[in-house]
Amino acid sequence: MILKVLSCSYRMHINFRHVTRILLNRTFSSAMQAEASKEIILLGHKYPTDEWTNVTPRVISKLGRNLHILLYHPLSLIRQRIVNYFYLQFHNRIGNPIFSVYDNLSPIVTVEQNFDSLLVPKNHPSRNKTDCYYINRDTLLRAHMTAHQTELISMGLNNFLVVGDVYRRDEIDSTHYPAFHQVDAVRLCTKDEVFENVKNTDELKLFEHRGVESNEKQGCHTLESVKVMEHELKNTLTGLAQTLFGSEVQYRWVEQYFPFTHPSWELEVYYKGQWLEILGCGIIRQEILQRTGTAERIGWAFGLGLERLAMCLYDIPDIRLFWSKDTAFSDQFKTEDPNAIIKYKPISIYPPCKSDISFWLPEDKHYSSNDFYDLVREVGGDRIQQVVLKDEFIHPTTKRLSHCYRITYRHMERTLSKLEVNNIHKQIKQQVSEKLHVKVR
Ligand code: PHE
Repeated sequence: MILKVLSCSYRMHINFRHVTRILLNRTFSSAMQAEASKEIILLGHKYPTDEWTNVTPRVISKLGRNLHILLYHPLSLIRQRIVNYFYLQFHNRIGNPIFSVYDNLSPIVTVEQNFDSLLVPKNHPSRNKTDCYYINRDTLLRAHMTAHQTELISMGLNNFLVVGDVYRRDEIDSTHYPAFHQVDAVRLCTKDEVFENVKNTDELKLFEHRGVESNEKQGCHTLESVKVMEHELKNTLTGLAQTLFGSEVQYRWVEQYFPFTHPSWELEVYYKGQWLEILGCGIIRQEILQRTGTAERIGWAFGLGLERLAMCLYDIPDIRLFWSKDTAFSDQFKTEDPNAIIKYKPISIYPPCKSDISFWLPEDKHYSSNDFYDLVREVGGDRIQQVVLKDEFIHPTTKRLSHCYRITYRHMERTLSKLEVNNIHKQIKQQVSEKLHVKVR
């Protein structure tokens, strides 16, 4: 699988993972379930917990690290490059930038912000407890920066960037980590702005009544207004890709689905022999603008993942490195110039150590691989490099299902001893049978 830092959970692809999740997790019970009637304190605020609570201590420990604004951090350098690009591209008559930047909004959001306000259907797989870190049934760690879109539009902003940490439950490998960072942007335009370069605009309109939705546009938009917006959006983003990867970069647009935009696309760039998806974007659903009191404007939006860009641009081989406090990592990015060309030099290569674990899935309870991944990460922390589902097996007579996972232990900063690995592996075995109600084989 290719890099997938900007995860696909908001799309409508019914892929194998989603189908199995829907089947397995209807009445899902979390491994890390907090007891009812308890409270947790996150970033200085108290939250009641309930049967939806599935945030883990390790994920909680990432709150407030704010890598995207940490001086000299590679994610912060890329953020600066993106913000500078927008300042340069979009300014008013007297040369002042028109985009405002929000990089300090709390990652704790409501289900309304993260999903409802963005028209994400109630049964959409991205809402599942298996995909998000819920604090309780109404509150979660934001799963994308788009969660702030409607509140910022409601405040009257027409051009803005929002940068921050986002949280998703996912598999474990060199490009997936439960916390990562995104930049989202919104631009809203009036009719005069959309047709700014057209002489006689009397005939032109942003909206039409009784229009029908097609692949090219939403029912309420005129084709001419959408085409102008699409052109500006795509130009802006290919310009950004060229600024980051160089003017020679090869790119392509792929049609995509997001509940909050239509039409929608992904931008892919060709990098080191493969097509890499770097962002999702589209024309904002007019219903969202109507609900936020901005019905007279048309808008575009996009969201991109910072880790993926930084891994390519700086040759960073493993996503865990961004969280490293080792100065051997951070010193390599000490530069006053965010455009400096930096190639990360591995501090040293420590050997990996692999160990398998097999268990029978519970017959009466629902089970999700993401529960297992979270548990492994809780016990092993950053000593876990990768966990893959190696084998699935159905017992011929009992029909019970068994999973075999291969865990790769490897620390980015030191060699792990056999003893340490055996100990963690033993603890994982113990905890899976206690917390996930599986039977270790
Ligand atoms: N929020 C989407 C994601 O995380 C990206 C996106 C943002 C797509 C804005 C369209 C518009 O995948």
